[in-house]
Amino acid sequence: MNLLAIETSCDETAIAIMNFDKEQNLEKEIEFKVLSNHVLSQINIHREFGGVFPSLAKREHANNIVKIFIECLKEAGLFVEKEKEDWVEKVEGKKEEIKTLLERESEMFSELEKLFLSIEKPKIDAIAVTAGPGLAPALWVGINFAKALSIFWDIKVYATNHMEGHIVSSLVSPIAEKKYIIKNYQSPALALLISGGHTEIIYFEKLGNYKKVGKTLDDAVGEAFDKVARSLDLPYPGGPEISKLAAASRQNDLKIIPEFKLPRPMINSKDLNFSFSGLKTAVIYKIKKLEEAKTLEREEIKNLIALDFENSVTEILLKKIKDAIEEYNPKSLMIGGGVIANTHIRNSFTDFAIKEDIDLYIPEKFLTGDNAFMIGTVAILNIIKEIKDTHLNDIKADSNWSVENL
Ligand code: KG4
Ligand code: ZN
Repeated sequence: MNLLAIETSCDETAIAIMNFDKEQNLEKEIEFKVLSNHVLSQINIHREFGGVFPSLAKREHANNIVKIFIECLKEAGLFVEKEKEDWVEKVEGKKEEIKTLLERESEMFSELEKLFLSIEKPKIDAIAVTAGPGLAPALWVGINFAKALSIFWDIKVYATNHMEGHIVSSLVSPIAEKKYIIKNYQSPALALLISGGHTEIIYFEKLGNYKKVGKTLDDAVGEAFDKVARSLDLPYPGGPEISKLAAASRQNDLKIIPEFKLPRPMINSKDLNFSFSGLKTAVIYKIKKLEEAKTLEREEIKNLIALDFENSVTEILLKKIKDAIEEYNPKSLMIGGGVIANTHIRNSFTDFAIKEDIDLYIPEKFLTGDNAFMIGTVAILNIIKEIKDTHLNDIKADSNWSVENL
C-alpha cells in the first residue's frame, strides 16, 4: 500500500510517500520503499529572529505544503491529470466542508481546490500526520491539510507522534536504491532523544510502549546549542555552527584553559535528568571573563568556548546514558533528534557503545533533522500492527504530546 506522510511540527515542511506490504512479520525486519521524500527548511526565514517564530512557521507551511505535495506526487508517479473537471456534480458538499476546515488557511484552500479539480485521486491508501509535540500553529497546518485530503479522497489518517518518529528513524537502514528496512533490535532498549525542543531518555521493551526515565529540567540540548551560538554571534541554528568551530579547535589541538573550563551541570546528580540553562549562563560569564583577560582574540575565544561547550554536552549525555544503562540493563541504545547530526556526539557514542558492549542505533544523517520519512516509518509499523486509524474529529495539535501517552 502507499502511505503519505506529513510533518509540519516546527520549521520544516516535509512530505514523503512510501510504499510497503501490509502483511509483514513484525518479528523480522520491515521493508519499505520511499517513492518521494521532500523537506523544505524555513531556516533562512527564521534566521533573522534567531529562532523559530510560530506564526511565520505556520504561514510558510501553508504557503508551501500543496506545492511540495504536488512535487512528491509527481516524483512518486501518482500525479494523473483528469480529463475533465467534475468538482461541481460530485463533491459540492465536500467542498464546503473543506472550505470551512481551511477557513484560516484560505490560500491553501484555493491551491487545493485547483488540485482536486485537475487530478485523479492518487493511489494513496493512508495518511500519517504529525499531531505533536511541536508548535501548535505549525502542527495545525499539516493536520488540516491531511484532513482536507482525507475528506476529499476518503483516505484514513493516522495521527503520529513526532518523538516516536525520531526513535524509529534510528532503526532505519538503506538496503538498495529507494529501499529501506526498519531493523530489529534486542529488547529492552533505551532511547536518547536530543532535539531543539526535547532532551529525554526513554525506556521500552516494545516500540509504541514507552516510559520516560529522564528529561531536561529546563532547556533542551539543541536549544542550548542555539542559545550558546547566539552569544557567540553565530547564526541560527547554532548546532552545526558550534560543531564546525569545535571540530576545527579539536583538529588544531586547542587546549581548554583550566580556570575557564565550563561546568558539566548535573553530571553527578543521582537521577537521569538534565539541566542546560546553567551552561548557557556559564558561557556568557566565561566569554566576559576571557574578554576582560585580553589574552585571546575574539575568534580564539569563540573556538575555545565552542569546543568546551560541545565537550561538556557530550560528557553529560554519555554519563547520563551510562547511569541509565546501569539502572535499566538495556541491550540496545537508540539515539534520535536533530542534535545527533553532531559528528563529535555520534563518534563519542559509537566508541562508548563498543566499550559498554551495547547495540547502538543512530539515524542516517538525512534522518536526524525533522522529516516526514520518519513519521511514515511510525505509521508503517502501526498499520502492520493493525492499530486503528484516528477519527478526524480526534486529530488535534497537541504541542506537549508525550511518547508516554500514545
Ligand atoms: O529534531 P530537530 O530537527 O527539530 C526539533 O524537533 O527540535 O532538532 C533541531 C535542533 C536545533 O537546535 C539544532 O541546532 C540542532 O538540532 N542541531 C545540532 C546539529 N545539527 C542540528 N546540534 C548540534 N550539532 C549539530 N551538528
Ligand atoms: Zn524533531
